[in-house]
Amino acid sequence: MKWTFKKLAGICTLCAAGGALAGTQLATAQLHADQPGPLIPRYIYGQFSEHLGRGIYDGVWVGEKSAIPNVRGIRSDVVQALRELKVPLIRWPGGCFADDYNWRDGIGPRDKRPGRKNNWWTGKPESNQFGTHEFMDFADQVGADAYIGINLGSAPPREMRDWMEYMTSDGDNALANERRKNGRAQPFKVPVVGIGNESWGCGGNMRAEYYADEYRRFQTFFHNNGQAAPAAIRVASGANKDDYNWTEVVMKQAGEKLDGLSLHYYTMPPDEWKDKGKTTGFSKEEWVTIFASALRIDEIIGKHSAIMDKYDPKKRVALYVDEWGTWYKTDSGEFDWDLYQQNTLRDGVVAAAHFNIFHRHTDRVKQTSIAQTMNVLQAMILTDGPKMVLTPTYYTFKMYVPFQDATALPLDVSSPSYRIGATAIPSINASAAKGKDGKTYIAIANMNPDDNVVLSVALGSLAASKVSGQVLTAQKMDQLNEFGKAPVVTAQAYKGATLAGGTLKLDLPAKSVVVVSLE
Ligand code: AHR
Repeated sequence: MKWTFKKLAGICTLCAAGGALAGTQLATAQLHADQPGPLIPRYIYGQFSEHLGRGIYDGVWVGEKSAIPNVRGIRSDVVQALRELKVPLIRWPGGCFADDYNWRDGIGPRDKRPGRKNNWWTGKPESNQFGTHEFMDFADQVGADAYIGINLGSAPPREMRDWMEYMTSDGDNALANERRKNGRAQPFKVPVVGIGNESWGCGGNMRAEYYADEYRRFQTFFHNNGQAAPAAIRVASGANKDDYNWTEVVMKQAGEKLDGLSLHYYTMPPDEWKDKGKTTGFSKEEWVTIFASALRIDEIIGKHSAIMDKYDPKKRVALYVDEWGTWYKTDSGEFDWDLYQQNTLRDGVVAAAHFNIFHRHTDRVKQTSIAQTMNVLQAMILTDGPKMVLTPTYYTFKMYVPFQDATALPLDVSSPSYRIGATAIPSINASAAKGKDGKTYIAIANMNPDDNVVLSVALGSLAASKVSGQVLTAQKMDQLNEFGKAPVVTAQAYKGATLAGGTLKLDLPAKSVVVVSLE
């Protein structure tokens, strides 16, 4: 093997022909603390829990008689873990499931509820033991708001109208009285509703023009029943990744009648549906293509936002990125529609890269939900009977809690790149904000799997004398946390920061997430 020493712009790496060895890269950033941007709404840190695989049953609902500790059938270990993330919002019941769901199946005495076939997700039995009241109880135990997915694809608007009245009316009417009979005197709070999901696909295979008309029809029969603000933000089914025509048509034909427009974007390897790639045991090539895919969400949000600006220059309509995250093959290597997948350090870093991008778009992006909370796709938590494990993604969410309702601060980053073959990514992306606690937070994803990056941040007008932080990293790219063992990928105290002469210097380990606070 022939060794060479390369000095490139911002890069100082000891390389071996045929493959890079660990080295150090240099990066710079300028903080503009005197130019505060928009609020980073806490809804940016939302969750999505669907009746899919073990997302709800096992993951959340075990039933009152279970030996697994629970409160009214809802797992206490999961609730406790989610409370620590300060989950602001949970989207439910789907996803594709929502457009096949009849809300009436999930109310009333549980022993009388009908069993159905879960048509979208492998046709497995759906017991309906977890319905409206159970979901609202779950959200309440977690401390989160409810984001309800309305069936537009296979139901008439009357079902939406009735469900909303059942949930939110305080009047003396049959539906509100039925809710009272079922054990809930006060109306539930429903601050957000999605009217249709992926209406271009599993939600009805509609054309944008047809959906826009359907949306207009549905919203005519939508009533928020006098809920106090913020009450029932209406979110229209939005585009699949770069389907800009969908956004154009829906904004043009229905823009003035909606409050939010959704966008779904999943991180997948280049072959997407043909070969989703492995969750563990992947190569550096797979690492870099996954990050290239993840980072594409920046361009995609930017282009959808620009279209929305044409029809809504005052930015009244929010973009809701209500499904995002990694989507791989399952553990067995087979494709399995239960969508259970492992979660490694790579996923934790992918989540951080997303947050840094979302923070830069909060003039338009007001909400996101990762897919999904439990046991499905890029999950926070995996369960196996009574066992539970917190994933690397969970810890990234935890490290970013101070960004909820913080004020975004511009941070101009100049990053070296990391390349394998034809694919190059910036080694780092980052964001900054002033937290509600008055501290300034800087978060960085080091996506370079080989090299640590020394980042020098010019703090400008920010006078800081104290820095502390946390880091998430591991030796292996595919390090995961295992059931029954102490977690390996967790947030640890970060010791790589120094402050001197208005410059913050951060030594960022390869493949890591770092969040620091400055006082
Ligand atoms: O998150 C899994 C599925 O992905 C959702 O049900 C659907 O909306 C999307 O295609």
